[in-house]
Amino acid sequence: MKKVIFKGDIVFTPTKDKFQVHKDSYLISENGKVVKILKQLGNEYNDYSIKDFTDKLIIPGFIDLHLHAPQYNNIGLGLDKELIPWLNTCTFPEEAKFYNVEYAKKTYKQLIRDLWRYGTTSAVIYSSIHKDSTKLLMDLFIDSNMRGYIGKVNMNRNAIPELLEDTKISIEETEEIIFEYKDKSSLVKPIITPRFVPSCTEELMEGLGQLALKYDIPVQSHLSENMSEVKWVKELHPGLPNYSSVYNQYNLFGQTKTIMAHCIYNTEDELELMAKNQVYAAHCVYSNYNLSSGIMPVREFLDREIPVGLGSDISGGNSLSIPSIMCGTVQASKIKWIETNKRLKPLTSSEVFYLGTKGGGSFFGNVGSFEKGYELDCLIIDDSNICDVDKLTLQDRIQKFIYTGDDRNIIERYIHGEKVHKPL
Ligand code: GUN
Ligand code: FE
Repeated sequence: MKKVIFKGDIVFTPTKDKFQVHKDSYLISENGKVVKILKQLGNEYNDYSIKDFTDKLIIPGFIDLHLHAPQYNNIGLGLDKELIPWLNTCTFPEEAKFYNVEYAKKTYKQLIRDLWRYGTTSAVIYSSIHKDSTKLLMDLFIDSNMRGYIGKVNMNRNAIPELLEDTKISIEETEEIIFEYKDKSSLVKPIITPRFVPSCTEELMEGLGQLALKYDIPVQSHLSENMSEVKWVKELHPGLPNYSSVYNQYNLFGQTKTIMAHCIYNTEDELELMAKNQVYAAHCVYSNYNLSSGIMPVREFLDREIPVGLGSDISGGNSLSIPSIMCGTVQASKIKWIETNKRLKPLTSSEVFYLGTKGGGSFFGNVGSFEKGYELDCLIIDDSNICDVDKLTLQDRIQKFIYTGDDRNIIERYIHGEKVHKPL
């Protein structure tokens, strides 16, 4: 049995309402999982190896619930359009390049190195429609010892010709990847990825829903990001009451574990269905700003106990940094508070920290916290350059790190108790 103890200043959020802090304490782990946290060590721990991070923060690794790997080269580009023109003119032409596995390899290596650098230990990722580049991304993730769900995109309508798939081939290739990767790695898993309703015919959605049920594979897609998009879905599916019901009709809405990115313009009925089916919302604040999409009413989701996590949504979003996204998420919630005449309360620091760790982490199982039985996925933070570690409380130190820290403060990363070295 692998027995390891991490010593330092431990901070996490078992619930969203407050930080749990343990100053100068010992995080006991066995076989990559958390056993307990102690203030003092007894003799029974003599045979554990100790990693001494005295005065450093020990926090859960960050979780990114939504990003597009083949958009990484476009980060920071083309952001003066709204969603649909942005997809057609910037995004689709870039994604079409990923038929070229060499191009994909260069981009995906850089993305993984940067995810590592920013302390993202788990990510839920869209690749492109291309089977070989998708497998490559999954293999690079496996080689890097990072945790991820990675999905080959499915799309067969309303795109540039290079990205329009034959329906049968799209479903067959998706099944091939599921078959090959569902048990290949404990950290990296396939996820079914219909791009969004306007990109997928009913026949394609039907086939993907069947695959999800057959292999019990999770699903990710986009929902109600932009007002023109919502209107378009209504035109495409006039017989159904709302956007969510299209996915729901085809078993792509919580029949297996599901993430929907954005969720800005959901109706009451849709929120109820998300709560009932426990569909995750991925809140992508920077993308929502950049593409003038709007501000998601996160508080409505939390009040209804709909699971929520944070997403970078590269390259609609312009930052991979989950702490930066946490900060932006609080700021957006304050504007929402004002916009709703102070009906929807702003998020607190502990709430956004929860969303970027345990909230999103729960999609992966026991990930994102240091409660007993959780995966030991953690970051070691040296915050001595941004605060006086002897004077500030741990609550203040974590807040300062979220607002003013950066990747240089992250000195080590662990997943399943193993140190993750700079990848690739
Ligand atoms: N909706 C469909 N595809 C996309 C995408 O690539 N990015 C975002 N932000 N929304 C989408
Ligand atoms: Fe997206």
